[in-house]
Amino acid sequence: MKRILIIGATSAIAEHCARIWAARGDALHLVARNEQHVQVIASDLKVRGASEVTTYCTDLNGTDKHEELLDSADDALKGIDIVLIAHGTLSNQKSCELSVKETLAEIQTNALSTIGLLTLIANRFEAKKSGSICVISSVAGDRGRASNYVYGSAKAMVTTFTSGLRQRLHKSNVSVVTVKPGFVDTPMTSEFKKGFLWAKPYAVSASIVKAIDKNKSELYAPAFWLVLIAVVKFIPEQIFRSISL
Ligand SMILES: NC(=O)c1ccc[n+]([C@@H]2O[C@H](COP(=O)([O-])OP(=O)(O)OC[C@H]3O[C@@H](n4cnc5c(N)ncnc54)[C@H](OP(=O)(O)O)[C@@H]3O)[C@@H](O)[C@H]2O)c1
Repeated sequence: MKRILIIGATSAIAEHCARIWAARGDALHLVARNEQHVQVIASDLKVRGASEVTTYCTDLNGTDKHEELLDSADDALKGIDIVLIAHGTLSNQKSCELSVKETLAEIQTNALSTIGLLTLIANRFEAKKSGSICVISSVAGDRGRASNYVYGSAKAMVTTFTSGLRQRLHKSNVSVVTVKPGFVDTPMTSEFKKGFLWAKPYAVSASIVKAIDKNKSELYAPAFWLVLIAVVKFIPEQIFRSISL
């Protein structure tokens, strides 16, 4: 039985991970900002077999609450084995271009709040010399594109931060998994027309849980994004600037 803290637990991808863990009988502590939604998910996870489900509500941009959030998870679970960080917002690129405030708010949600949490979690796991940390970044962080570079640059920060953290914590027996999903059909992308590149959240979540189990470093989900992104990264900047992707 694992003791799992899920931050951003109302995310569709996180919920599907939680369903897999619940079916295994794991103990889950769910952190989200929407009290009603997280209670519905918690009840469902109990029915699905979770040995225990507890909740904590907060807006994750309130970094001054992060220490309290982790203390309460530690108390509820009596120790933490795995942390999944899943919250995020898909930035409106066009309105960010017109607003410094909105751009910085998006960076706060998609990068800084995660980095704040990671700093605290890393120190706790390093001290006890065990634990797995999994963070959902994005393929959007692998190269800046005109259509979503505010969101992309926030995710790039998370990807780079987790790469360094993974190296630092390796010698302390703490694993760090960076997940880079492509297009996933979740509430975040509800307004997009779906095509053949789109994946379902349950499929992405199954590969996330497997990557944590196998102590992987980086996961492209689905895996074909590894090839697509390699091609995108290969295009010289001089050519890249004139194409629209
Ligand atoms: N869907 C995709 O195509 C895709 C692709 C690449 C990466 N990702 C990443 O995957 C992760 C999960 O997203 P998803 O696809 O599962 O979308 P989702 O269902 O819309 O989940 C996003 C979650 O983040 C929560 N959230 C946002 N800001 C928050 C805040 N300040 N405090 C607390 N919670 C906050 C939202 O809570 P509320 O419900 O309360 O708003 C929501 O539960 C995100 O990090 C996203 O960037 C998604």
